[in-house]
Amino acid sequence: MIMRTKVKDLLKSEPGRTVTAKGWVRTKRGNRNIAFIALNDGSTINNIQIVVETAAFSEELLKKITTGACISVKGDLVKSVGSGQAVEIQAKEIELYGEANPDTYPLQKKGHSLEFLRSIAHLRPRTNTFGAVLRIRHAMAFAIHKYFNDKGFVYLHTPVITASDCEGAGEMFQVTTLDLNNPPRTSDGKVDYSQDFFGKQTSLTVSGQLEGELGAMALGEIYTFGPTFRAENSNTPRHLAEFWMIEPEMAFYDINDNMDLAEDFIKSLVRYALENCMDDLRFLNDMFDKELVERLESVIKTDFVRLTYTEGVKILEESGEKFEFPVGWGVDLQSEHERYLVEKHFGKPVIMTDYPKDIKAFYMKQNEDGRTVRGMDVLFPKIGEIIGGSEREASLEKLQARIDELGMSRDTLEWYLDTRRFGAAPHSGFGLGFERLLLFVTGMSNIRDVIPFPRTPKNAEY
Ligand code: 4AD
Ligand code: MG
Repeated sequence: MIMRTKVKDLLKSEPGRTVTAKGWVRTKRGNRNIAFIALNDGSTINNIQIVVETAAFSEELLKKITTGACISVKGDLVKSVGSGQAVEIQAKEIELYGEANPDTYPLQKKGHSLEFLRSIAHLRPRTNTFGAVLRIRHAMAFAIHKYFNDKGFVYLHTPVITASDCEGAGEMFQVTTLDLNNPPRTSDGKVDYSQDFFGKQTSLTVSGQLEGELGAMALGEIYTFGPTFRAENSNTPRHLAEFWMIEPEMAFYDINDNMDLAEDFIKSLVRYALENCMDDLRFLNDMFDKELVERLESVIKTDFVRLTYTEGVKILEESGEKFEFPVGWGVDLQSEHERYLVEKHFGKPVIMTDYPKDIKAFYMKQNEDGRTVRGMDVLFPKIGEIIGGSEREASLEKLQARIDELGMSRDTLEWYLDTRRFGAAPHSGFGLGFERLLLFVTGMSNIRDVIPFPRTPKNAEY
């Protein structure tokens, strides 16, 4: 293999040496004597220009260098005479790796709609937009690990297959090797899961939190970062059936420490994007969302509002705004309510706390009022809920009572309750939806466009 230099590095190089570039042709233009190829290899949003004196190459080869084709080019890196780039390659040798027939290659013109690109998600990484999004996605994943590593958190790998429903919402994808056409049955006619692969009913995880708490009660501060599955039939621009979640869990943190960490965490990720992804952010800013960079810069300078659910509902009730879903104390707030508070009322991110216990999961710390729990949601402009978390109920008695009250099975949670039996401690944690974060950072408006291969109801292509 001939060593190639990545386009990103070529564009920063001094002219005056022989180089090899490899990549996919974005465009070819020119005339009978000279051709200009814009070549991209995914290392940057920018292309390198290849200048080809047509007389020096076979006509047959040049004809096959069309949009989407993959080539290797050896030539001299020279100062560019044209505007738009500092250097370009004067081609000496060209090798064609793979053609892309112009009659059938779908990515011919610029400016395909995002809807169309979703229908060819296997090819859309070749577009400028998805190149930018996927590079930012990578940078954010790296920044997340760096953030927690710098703080001494341990990356804990929690299982994907589980027998418990952390959020208690029953939105689980079942995992089974039983013959669905003819499952074994118990004497009372129910499916006999004791004969299933794990000897019990199992599902894909909706959250790594419960196992994360076990880690925090031993290692102090942990985080998880993995795929998460929800069989909720929500066809919205903010829901996926398979998404990635980051869940830190910390011993000795109360709800206020938890909020401080969540706010610092998000701000630090946004700062990382501004410091490391500006080429891609500028592109997305110019193409899709003219206020993107400004919004990112403002969020790292703003103190997030902190208010209780009860205060939030009061503001919504007094707003005079007509909501599709009526609002009142006790209702689970809808995205339209959250966005009203964040976008119209406060004009900045909001951390809402102390929710009615009946709309939150069993593990949240119960307040003295007997009606609310120490949960927290971080609400963001354009997105609504980006983080959900809480201080955890540390009292064994209170937790057992709540599990019973909700009609949940204690049997599958005995291992979890042991954290409250042995060496219990105050602790807190939260979950950041990775794709929700990416919606904010990239300015994209549909969650299907910030994950390479989206899984949504009726859609599991690739
Ligand atoms: O609010 P959720 O359901 O909280 C939990 O799962 C807790 N166990 C987290 C914890 O305390 N460790 O989910 C957390 C976040 C949401 O705020 C949202 O950003 C994201 O996960 N999320 C989704 N993202 C995309 N598609 C979905 N269907 C999502 N459901 C939740
Ligand atoms: Mg939530």
